[in-house]
Amino acid sequence: MFKEGLRPAWVEIDLKALENNIKIIQSRVSPGSEICGIVKANAYGHGVLECVRVMERNGIRNFGISTLSEAIQLRKAGVQGRIIMLGLTPEMYVDTVVEYNIMTGFTDISYAKALSEEAVKRGKVMEIWGVVDTGMGRIGYQAKDPQAVEEIFAVSQLPGLKLAGIFSHFSTSDFEDRSYADKQERRFNHIREALMEKGLSFYLCSLANSPATMDRPSSHFDLCRPGGIFYGRYQSGVTLVPGIQPVMSIKANIVQLKNVPEGFSVSYERSLITKRPSTIATLAMGYADGIPRPWWEKGKVIVNGQYAPFAGVICMDQCMLDVTDIPNVQVGDEVVVMGRSGDLFIGAEDIAAGVGTIGNNITCGCDARLPYLYLE
Ligand SMILES: Cc1ncc(COP(=O)(O)O)c(C=O)c1O
Repeated sequence: MFKEGLRPAWVEIDLKALENNIKIIQSRVSPGSEICGIVKANAYGHGVLECVRVMERNGIRNFGISTLSEAIQLRKAGVQGRIIMLGLTPEMYVDTVVEYNIMTGFTDISYAKALSEEAVKRGKVMEIWGVVDTGMGRIGYQAKDPQAVEEIFAVSQLPGLKLAGIFSHFSTSDFEDRSYADKQERRFNHIREALMEKGLSFYLCSLANSPATMDRPSSHFDLCRPGGIFYGRYQSGVTLVPGIQPVMSIKANIVQLKNVPEGFSVSYERSLITKRPSTIATLAMGYADGIPRPWWEKGKVIVNGQYAPFAGVICMDQCMLDVTDIPNVQVGDEVVVMGRSGDLFIGAEDIAAGVGTIGNNITCGCDARLPYLYLE
């Protein structure tokens, strides 16, 4: 039984696997391009401070976050490197941006002016970059808008600011059909070159996410921004990278076992009625711990080296398993809810596919209540 976490269910984070993935990523990044470790959302649920320490130890000096609180958490923990805000920051927060030295992006001159004034007031120079929408349709200047070039140029002239470059985000770089990502890259080059023709020089232009970092060197520019691949996310489609290992596992100890007759009713909605005399095991973890409720239907766990199905819908704090076909199951046995056991494996992507989402959506939801065990 896992005692330290005060409950018999936990997340294991394999920091050696993270280090292994970092080295593979580093081997793929083009010379002259740096890496920004995307560690938003608590490092996709993996524990931001622990993951940042491993990244720092391996020479990574840029970190991507998406809320000011995440940035402040890193600064307060002593992170000295560049902290980059990936989303937009309302003007009212420029004081915080300057205080914690956070690199932000702009999509209009009004924000840049507010930041410029605050930086000048405090005697600082703030790095900033222009956000360009090359096809994600989320944030940024439209890449083909001539006004964008004028405005980004105007920002470069504001005092207290240092225009580092421009950044954009791919929406399909993991697709087998590369045509839309090609188009995004062309748009990125178009606006970058237009700005350079106006006399600007950049040192931090950035386009590549995980799949593009692995598989599209022409998009590396000055800074690659991989996220999911650090944590071992299966890179769908064409960019399955050999050697990348999943970092997160979810485990639990069996807290109750019972032998029940045929016709026995299990869980809410009487979602399982046993069709034979059965052995039902209970785990003290549920959907409030990030295991999606609908996963029970197609889902499985690993018990003593064998797959076992769920028995009935997953409850908020508990779930039941059908372990009838597994010999010698005991209360206290360790169950792998996500992760590897011998040759058997259940990945975040397997769970995600079973419930119609993506792996990040699973890993990001595990840190609400589960204790974390970091394996060095
Ligand atoms: C702006 C930005 N850059 C980089 C990333 C990292 O993407 P990925 O996890 O696909 O590598 C994200 C993640 O969503 C993002 O929003």
